[in-house]
Amino acid sequence: MAKTLILLLLRTTSVKNDDYDDAIVGKESESAVFDVVCYFPTMKMNSRFTGDVDDMYNVHGHAGNLCREAVLEGLGRIVNSRLENMATEPVTIADFGTADGRASLSLINEIIEFIQKELGQKQAVVVYYNDQPMDDFNLLSKVISGYTQNPGLTFIGNVYPVMIPRTMYEQCLPDNSIDLAISTVATHYLSKQVCKIKNGVFMEEADDEEQERMREQGKADWRDFVISRGRELKPGGFLVTMNTSSCDNEVSAAFENGNRPLGSILSDMATEGIITQDEYLATNYNAHCWRQTEDFQEPFASAVPEIEELGLELVSVRLIKRCQQHPIFDIVNKDFTDKLKFSQRIVAMVYPWFHHVIYRGLADSRTEDEKEMITDQYFQRMQKYAFEHSDFKPYLIFTEVVIKRNM
Ligand SMILES: C[S@@+](CC[C@H](N)C(=O)[O-])C[C@H]1O[C@@H](n2cnc3c(N)ncnc32)[C@H](O)[C@@H]1O
Repeated sequence: MAKTLILLLLRTTSVKNDDYDDAIVGKESESAVFDVVCYFPTMKMNSRFTGDVDDMYNVHGHAGNLCREAVLEGLGRIVNSRLENMATEPVTIADFGTADGRASLSLINEIIEFIQKELGQKQAVVVYYNDQPMDDFNLLSKVISGYTQNPGLTFIGNVYPVMIPRTMYEQCLPDNSIDLAISTVATHYLSKQVCKIKNGVFMEEADDEEQERMREQGKADWRDFVISRGRELKPGGFLVTMNTSSCDNEVSAAFENGNRPLGSILSDMATEGIITQDEYLATNYNAHCWRQTEDFQEPFASAVPEIEELGLELVSVRLIKRCQQHPIFDIVNKDFTDKLKFSQRIVAMVYPWFHHVIYRGLADSRTEDEKEMITDQYFQRMQKYAFEHSDFKPYLIFTEVVIKRNM
């Protein structure tokens, strides 16, 4: 048994650099063109790496579940107001930045159940699923239709799912059309790439000027997100978001030094010539994970005219720091097998949101096979790092923001 595990680890950690050097020989690196228009932070949920579907949703699923109380509180008020006004039109729910829909599935089924219990089985419910156009909408369709391991969306009664491939930083639905909007772990993605981070991959590795640009874009994006949802919400409607954020100079972390090991692994690959300097430069995580409470309050504190015109009210802002839940994280003094499981879990958590960052940084002149091979090597190195640092307990830092559109 131990021998099998050792072999498995060796297979996934000791890929010879020569293989990659051979693959790269003769390929001229292409300077990646800085193009704000074709930036798509595509999510990739299926991993060739672990041979299974990577389960970011088990981890990020917490995000939806962490704001469950706020969602049900808002829904309760929406339902009461409908009962008072004898409203008959469909109840409309929207999930912005849904990825493959798995993270919000149980929460949305609970919402549907609640609506049907309070307003009757015949009450029509429309569920809008939004993500950026390059998302895997085929997978989303399979998930909500119950063609994966998940039971899918509850279709008992009048329940209608609708997919919206469009950036959430624009209005995606008509004015006054949504009762309840939710969004979890999505608003940190910037709507466009405003710089190339010269000395790293993440915002924390950026220089002052780069950081300032990202912060400014993050501010504009959060305003656009809030105003767009504000237009879409019906008067009396609620927006509940769970956002990646920072606290005491820390962000969510899968490693002891936060995201820095992810950047160091890539810079090692550049130093070793496995990727070119241009590719290293082109590899950026285009997201602002460092917002703080006042950044979420900003559109309200600055009295942005649209916010007032729409009658938007900031109901609450709640900072949450919490260790990620998995039995493997609780084991002290891990043996070889535990370390291996730990390292696989860490890669499974990071892979879905980070695969595209590595893959898209690689030169267009490379073949798809080369790109996959280099990306795999990146994650193999990450697994090795996690194996060697398996005492760490990953944690999340999120901020829940609840907004209401007043009547
Ligand atoms: C980390 S995933 C979160 C998925 C899910 N909501 C969860 O809680 O696990 C972030 C999602 O936001 C999406 N996203 C990023 N930028 C977006 C944009 N401008 N418009 C809509 N969705 C976007 C990504 O494609 C991705 O599916």
